[in-house]
Amino acid sequence: MVSKPNRRTVLGVTAGAALPWVLAAPAPATPSAPAATHRRVTVHSPNRRLRVTAGVANGRLWYEVARRGRVLVARSGLGLDLADRPSLTSGLVVESVERRTIDESWRPVWGSDALVRNHARECVLRTVQSASGIQLHLVVRVFDDGVGFRYRLPAQAGLDTYTVTAERTEFALPPDATSWSLAAGTDWRADERHYRQVQLSQVETAQTPLTLVTPGGQHIVVHEAALIDYPSMTLAAETGRPGTFTSELISLPDGTKARLSGEFSTPWRTLTVGDRPGDLAESHLTENLNEPCVLTDTSWISPGTYVGVWWELQRRHTTWTEGPRHGATTERVKQYIDFAREAGASNVLAEGWNTNAGGEWTGQDFLTPQPDFDLPEVLRYARANGIGFIAHNETRGFVDYYEQHLDTIFARYAELGIHTVKTGYATKFQLGGVNRSHYDQEAVRHYQRVIDAAARHKIMINAHEAIKPTGLARTYPNMMTGEGVAGMEQHNYMGRLGNPPEQATVLPFTRYMGGPADYTPGVLNVTWDPAGLGTRVQTTSAAQLALYSVFFSPLQMLADTPENYRSHPGFAYLKDIPASWDETRFLDCVIGDHTVAARRKGRTWYLGAITDEHDRTLRVPLRFLGPGRHRAEIYRDAADTDWHDNPLPIDVRTEVVRSSTVLTLRLVGGGGTAIRFRPARS
Ligand code: NOJ
Ligand code: CA
Repeated sequence: MVSKPNRRTVLGVTAGAALPWVLAAPAPATPSAPAATHRRVTVHSPNRRLRVTAGVANGRLWYEVARRGRVLVARSGLGLDLADRPSLTSGLVVESVERRTIDESWRPVWGSDALVRNHARECVLRTVQSASGIQLHLVVRVFDDGVGFRYRLPAQAGLDTYTVTAERTEFALPPDATSWSLAAGTDWRADERHYRQVQLSQVETAQTPLTLVTPGGQHIVVHEAALIDYPSMTLAAETGRPGTFTSELISLPDGTKARLSGEFSTPWRTLTVGDRPGDLAESHLTENLNEPCVLTDTSWISPGTYVGVWWELQRRHTTWTEGPRHGATTERVKQYIDFAREAGASNVLAEGWNTNAGGEWTGQDFLTPQPDFDLPEVLRYARANGIGFIAHNETRGFVDYYEQHLDTIFARYAELGIHTVKTGYATKFQLGGVNRSHYDQEAVRHYQRVIDAAARHKIMINAHEAIKPTGLARTYPNMMTGEGVAGMEQHNYMGRLGNPPEQATVLPFTRYMGGPADYTPGVLNVTWDPAGLGTRVQTTSAAQLALYSVFFSPLQMLADTPENYRSHPGFAYLKDIPASWDETRFLDCVIGDHTVAARRKGRTWYLGAITDEHDRTLRVPLRFLGPGRHRAEIYRDAADTDWHDNPLPIDVRTEVVRSSTVLTLRLVGGGGTAIRFRPARS
């Protein structure tokens, strides 16, 4: 069922679900004239506003990026170091150059837009190192919304197996830009921290995505696409060159970076660009730089919302472990199934369903249910109600065991009719008998093996504590969502700070640039504290509703408990809410201040507006609505709602609006507004 993506072709002809009406097949490549003349090339985006210049100078590959006549990335060096070979940062000459245009459209199995255009100009610089004879290609693609470039080591004599010891990609970015990033890290929590807003010149290291706004108003995101069989890239500031970073790959335990064989293309190094924050969040550049779907049958992949035994565990009301307060009992999970039906959710998650879950998390086989959890009965009940079951596989970092038994576990799930697995790698990553970074080459290979094994057994994956998303879901659409974010659970773990409201206004333009996140929004009873933890969710209830438009996940959780939902008027907004969209617009957004996003499914729009810690009034023109009258069901903070002292009350009202209407939204600090627009019956 799974065909291997052909890494030798740069692009397949069709993508996603096969389209009979692909706009234009990639044009045949135009070979260039002989070597010496090609020391520098210029590639323009289709609309010609973005320009990449690349070449070889003094034996080293370099590139530069300019947009609307302004330099975004000043001349920056490129190259790789291989063990026991001369560095590929010197002695190179350009042998030939090939150019072509890519213009196709593809339909994602799920996504933020129903149709995606992939339109770029591509240039391949083929270089060779004269002394060693090693060939190194630089592939550059320039889109209207950004740039991707990657190294390719073509099949060649003498490079059967080789080791990358460093990647020497530079990014000479504007030092005076405002930036948002996480400090680089190798541990499992590195992606679960809060974004820092500082001038770029102050940043010493960063995970990607790294997001910038220049004083001239250009918006830039540095990230990577198609992270396969290679370590994750972080960025390290160059001493004495403010704003200039070099790629720092996560090391294997022996300090090397990647062990490779034969022809290999690195992940794409990407720059997404735009005039507005919304240009970034609406971009499909990351997905477009991934290969088309390799699954021949995707009919079993279904986006949807899910509920489950989770928040009550996080709030210590019940336990993962067996005992008198065990959460995932047959009866309790059945209650969640009833609730899933009521909510229009597709799936129910049960954490702590299997033996040895919780506590030390050792000795789990991921197949044997706890004594008070009757798995066949729960599955029967779920099926009778049209609800899927999400099996939790918290490996706790015992990855060797998981790898060895993956196929057996997933084959059994398939027999039982379980089509979704939430994986977890909390605290460590023990693979190959050693503890290693969650982000090294072997870890990346492991996550891929899980995706492949899952695809063989028709299973969708939601991966926690795994790797940042890099658009792989285009190729493997059963890779639904993942964590890599300071999500809802951090309201429990970051002391009384929780996730400051500002963070949610940053995430669409940082973390979500890579792909979906399982943030698990929707806790409406934000002060629910049955175990007296002294913590709470740091927003109002209305802001939680707004997050369903601001955050995207094709498996989107309704994280609160059935009891909390049933007692809150905001629940009506979440009933039947979609998790995959026909169209997405980011409207009025200032990174770190406020975000207004609208998403359409069929003829219904869902708009979410959130603010940081400050009250603000936003005027939102409804130009995105179609013609005619629309009924706007507005869920907003009530007049007396206060994020700190009175966060629960919401005000629900209905207005009739048109696309010419300009709504005035009054947001309280930590608050938000959610609006569902449906065509009004005349
Ligand atoms: C951390 C995950 O992010 C969370 O969702 C899960 O409940 C716990 N680990 C336990 O596996
Ligand atoms: Ca986590």
